[in-house]
Amino acid sequence: MAKSIALITGANKGIGFEIARQLGKRGFIVWLGCRDQSRGDDAAKKLREEGIEANSLLLDVADAESIQAAVEHLGKYAGVLDALINNAGMNFGRPPPPSQESVEQMRAIFDVNVFGAVRVTQACLPLLRKSTAGRIVMMSSGLGSIASTLDMTSENWNIGSAGYCASKTALNMFTVKFAKELAVEGIKVNAADPGLTATDLNGHMGHRSPVEAAAIAVRLATLDNLGPTGGFFLNDDSDPRPPRHPW
Ligand SMILES: NC(=O)c1ccc[n+]([C@@H]2O[C@H](COP(=O)([O-])OP(=O)(O)OC[C@H]3O[C@@H](n4cnc5c(N)ncnc54)[C@H](OP(=O)(O)O)[C@@H]3O)[C@@H](O)[C@H]2O)c1
Repeated sequence: MAKSIALITGANKGIGFEIARQLGKRGFIVWLGCRDQSRGDDAAKKLREEGIEANSLLLDVADAESIQAAVEHLGKYAGVLDALINNAGMNFGRPPPPSQESVEQMRAIFDVNVFGAVRVTQACLPLLRKSTAGRIVMMSSGLGSIASTLDMTSENWNIGSAGYCASKTALNMFTVKFAKELAVEGIKVNAADPGLTATDLNGHMGHRSPVEAAAIAVRLATLDNLGPTGGFFLNDDSDPRPPRHPW
């Protein structure tokens, strides 16, 4: 049987790299979407040294031409896509309150975290439609949850980063919209909250490791035909079914 193919954006480091490693260990051929060729090549080489079939793919999610070239390359060499993990994301560190947060910075965050995921999803659909079990995972965040943001007992209550948080709320809505459109074709689209994880994105704060954080994306990328679509899920391995995150 042919091996399944996965594309992970922002896969040269952090959670994306671990998603690639874990999917590779499960037998996927993994394509590491990276906006810097040499960082991507180094990451793919590391995975190949562990016995994983890994390739790097130059892919800047903020650049439509780069995405088109990457998808053409993927079409030529893989021919199909079984799992797309829209993991690439960015933030600008600790911003001031929303009344003073720079709109230019918010726009840059949305361009990567929201429109980047939308662009890559749209471009990859022809290849996902060739799969018998296409899966799309949006790497969201608990910080995008409006319910948690309004909950005084949640760790979200005192968090700033309005632009980043709103980008993940918007990504959640795109998750639901794509899920509804693609359900009849059997393509499942879900959003994942990896939990607060020590990576470059947040100056290595956080109680989770990228290894732990990757687990929910891997679960959602490998759902069987009875699995959910249009959901937002917490990272909790102790539950046989991934627990839902409040929207
Ligand atoms: N860490 C957390 O606590 C946490 C919590 C919830 C959700 N998340 C989400 O998890 C995802 C991964 O973040 P992380 O924590 O692993 O952060 P990270 O270590 O900073 O990794 C981010 C990745 O995204 C890539 N990227 C940024 N802009 C890009 C672009 N325009 N095109 C392609 N790739 C781009 C980065 O590439 P470069 O190396 O070239 O910059 C890097 O590979 C993000 O979507 C983030 O919002 C993280």
